[in-house]
Amino acid sequence: MKHLRILAPFLLLWLIRDQAANRGDGRPTCRRCDLHHACSCSFRGFTHVPVVTDQALSLDLSFNNITMVAQDDLTGHSILRLLDLQGNQIAEIHPSAFDSLWSLEELDLSDNQLTFLNPQWFNQLELLKHLNLINNPYSFLGSPSLFLGLSRLRRLMFGGPDLKELKREDLSGVTHLEELTVQANNLDRYDAGTFGDIWPLGRVTLSLHGPFLTNPALAAAVLNDVSYPETRLTLSDLHLAQYVSVQPLKDSINLIRFLSLRNVSLSDEACVSMLALIDGVPLRSLSIEGLTLTGEGRWVTANRTDLSSMDEFFASDVTILDILKFAMVSELQYLLQYQKKLSIINAKLFLLSCYLTQMMVNTLYLDVSDNLLTDLTLSYMLCDGDKTLPELRVLNMSGNLLKSLSTLSRLVTKLTKLSQLDVSRTGYSSMPPSCSWPSTLGYLNISRAKLTIVTPCLPKSLEVLDLSYNDLKEFALTLPILRELHLCGNKFLRLPAGGAFPNLQTLMIQSNTLNAFSLSDLQSYRRLENLQAGHNKFVCSCEFVAFLRSQLTGSGDVKITDNHQTYVCDSPLYLQGEAVSQVSLSIIQCQPVLCVSVSCGVALVLGILVAGLLRRCHAFWFLKMTWAWLKAKKRSQRRRRNRNTEGSDPLLSFDAFVSYSEQDASWVEEFLVPELEEPRDSDSETPTSPLTLCLHKRDFLPGHWIMDNIMSAIERSRRTIFVLSENFVQSDWCRYELDFSHFWLFEAGGDAAILILLEPLSKDDVPKRFCKLRKLMSSTTYLEWPEEEERRPEFWRSLRIALTGDNEQN
Ligand SMILES: *[C@@H]1O[C@H](CO)[C@@H](O)[C@H](O)[C@H]1NC(C)=O
Ligand SMILES: *[C@@H]1O[C@H](CO)[C@@H](O)[C@H](O)[C@H]1NC(C)=O
Ligand SMILES: *[C@@H]1O[C@H](CO)[C@@H](O)[C@H](O)[C@H]1NC(C)=O
Ligand SMILES: *[C@@H]1O[C@H](CO)[C@@H](O)[C@H](O)[C@H]1NC(C)=O
Repeated sequence: MKHLRILAPFLLLWLIRDQAANRGDGRPTCRRCDLHHACSCSFRGFTHVPVVTDQALSLDLSFNNITMVAQDDLTGHSILRLLDLQGNQIAEIHPSAFDSLWSLEELDLSDNQLTFLNPQWFNQLELLKHLNLINNPYSFLGSPSLFLGLSRLRRLMFGGPDLKELKREDLSGVTHLEELTVQANNLDRYDAGTFGDIWPLGRVTLSLHGPFLTNPALAAAVLNDVSYPETRLTLSDLHLAQYVSVQPLKDSINLIRFLSLRNVSLSDEACVSMLALIDGVPLRSLSIEGLTLTGEGRWVTANRTDLSSMDEFFASDVTILDILKFAMVSELQYLLQYQKKLSIINAKLFLLSCYLTQMMVNTLYLDVSDNLLTDLTLSYMLCDGDKTLPELRVLNMSGNLLKSLSTLSRLVTKLTKLSQLDVSRTGYSSMPPSCSWPSTLGYLNISRAKLTIVTPCLPKSLEVLDLSYNDLKEFALTLPILRELHLCGNKFLRLPAGGAFPNLQTLMIQSNTLNAFSLSDLQSYRRLENLQAGHNKFVCSCEFVAFLRSQLTGSGDVKITDNHQTYVCDSPLYLQGEAVSQVSLSIIQCQPVLCVSVSCGVALVLGILVAGLLRRCHAFWFLKMTWAWLKAKKRSQRRRRNRNTEGSDPLLSFDAFVSYSEQDASWVEEFLVPELEEPRDSDSETPTSPLTLCLHKRDFLPGHWIMDNIMSAIERSRRTIFVLSENFVQSDWCRYELDFSHFWLFEAGGDAAILILLEPLSKDDVPKRFCKLRKLMSSTTYLEWPEEEERRPEFWRSLRIALTGDNEQN
């Protein structure tokens, strides 16, 4: 993140430059540049040099179809250090095409179609260190020398199938090279001394196939100019068939210490003359890569060749054309007895005799990898476990046909100085319970075998152990001084317990089936510094993702040194294939318990709040009431229907339903009932008829639900009298009645309520929540019960009028 922030301005600049560089003159554009300004535009089919940001430090245009480099194609690239144009079709380069490349250090023009090399190309390239012109169809380098201004040149490669001549001045200016490679298989003119001025000269590779065959003098002249004791000489593509074939080396061989032959074929005659050639010379290292033996191995005449100064002999990829006729080279065993380092790799070798190995008293290093050795021939080679190869430190038998680990351990026990043993790529499929090994053995490589378990057979002296690409599932073995453990490509489900490896510094366990690992797993390794565990089947739990992220950012002692993108989730399914470092898991996925408890808590608090609020608003009461009312109403509707159809039970059977509080019962019974139901015609001239009142105490049907009773009482009464007092307001019971009658009033559409105030009660004395009562009080005139006796007849009259009057009007 921090890096990004620092780089951001550069990136921006870079993008802007990139835009500006696109001048739209028909050239393609290549934007494949990384953060280090290395632009890789190879294999893109470009036919012209593409437009590339001039911030580029290295530009790879290899293997396109570019045919020419025009004057302006590379202008502006003044900071470019490396330009690779290998493998194009370039036949033409403008003389000043490279003029702006002042910083160029490496230029590769190999494998193109240049028939002519122009010295002007390199005029401005003073910093050039590496120049590759190999494999182009030019026939000469040309004069003046191409390299005059290139005083820093250290690696030079040139030549090709058409190179015909090299003249004395062609290489003037070249003085000191680390590496010179010349492909001159068809050279027919060489001025002696052309390479002679180049000194020091580190490494020379020459392909002189044609001259060796047809012009030995020319080949000798070339070799004489590059042969120094310090120079490593490689001759490639030689086909030597006769005694005389090796003559070009005759003079220079006394100067050469390090000789390599690559891609050579030798007949028996050539072999014998070669051996005669190197007899007694101070050659220290001979290496042959890609050797084809065309003869029958009849080299007996050379059987006294003195190779005592040769420390190292290396042969790999040896092909014997006529293997059936090829003689056993047992007489030549003396050739192999002096080397400290002997490698015979991929040579179909199936036997080295005990007789030979017992003579190899100086050999420190023996590599016979990729051959045909079996347990049996190995047993011959190591003298069936007797003393042999007394100085041997490294034995490499990788890639042979070995099957029995117990045989191996028995055979190598007496190699008392052996410290490294490589038996990788073999057929070992089981490990015996115990083995004996040289006490010095510190490195053991049994990778790419078929082991399924490890046993205490493995020696405690191991510092490096490679068991990659076997079939192991666990590793329960203590190796006290082990530093490096390689377990890639097995079937481990978890990291082996670190306690068994107190000194382990490096653990490689890629491409297994690890699900996860944790901090405590890592902490069990006391010394671990370097872990590579990519390409496993990680289960991306929150814990693991968080842990691995912290490890990848490098906050722990253990460094994860393989590519972070190889740590990929295998499960859960929706994360499959995603890099762990890019996974984002939400808090809900990561803390389900916490989330559930928090949400439950929140829900509970909300619930309590709502309940409190509802309680404050009397919602429960309203709900209960509405519910009861709805039910009662239904019943009453049914009742009404029944009445209508049967015609009986007249709808109105009371003049008024009296709604009152229990506390006001005495008033109702003492004053209201007598006055209205049994009127005394005392001081009235008009006779007053009795009215029928409905009182809940008296007229409700016992056994019926109270709501029904109220409902039907209100229905069956013409009016409802509410006896209001403090008590009434406080009684829930009365509230029901009030509200039902209110609903009823709405339904009836009339003004059927009569309010009697027993004590002075203003609208404001009524609590606000009884909004209906308040509304009723403001819309309906109410009658106040007078304290004074003399005003009461007036009250009764008004009440009577209220009860009957409206009725008469209707
Ligand atoms: C280059 O051109 C040739 C034909 O001219 C074609 O066969 C080849 O595929 C091209 N190479 C690339 C890398 O596009
Ligand atoms: C090996 O050398 C021969 C000439 O002796 C040559 O034709 C052949 O291409 C070379 N092979 C390699 C792989 O370089
Ligand atoms: C043994 O040979 C193999 C193959 O040639 C090579 O990869 C390995 O590094 C060698 N081992 C040692 C210890 O040199
Ligand atoms: C073990 O041998 C294999 C195969 O030869 C090789 O690739 C690997 O590098 C060797 N391991 C070590 C730790 O040298």
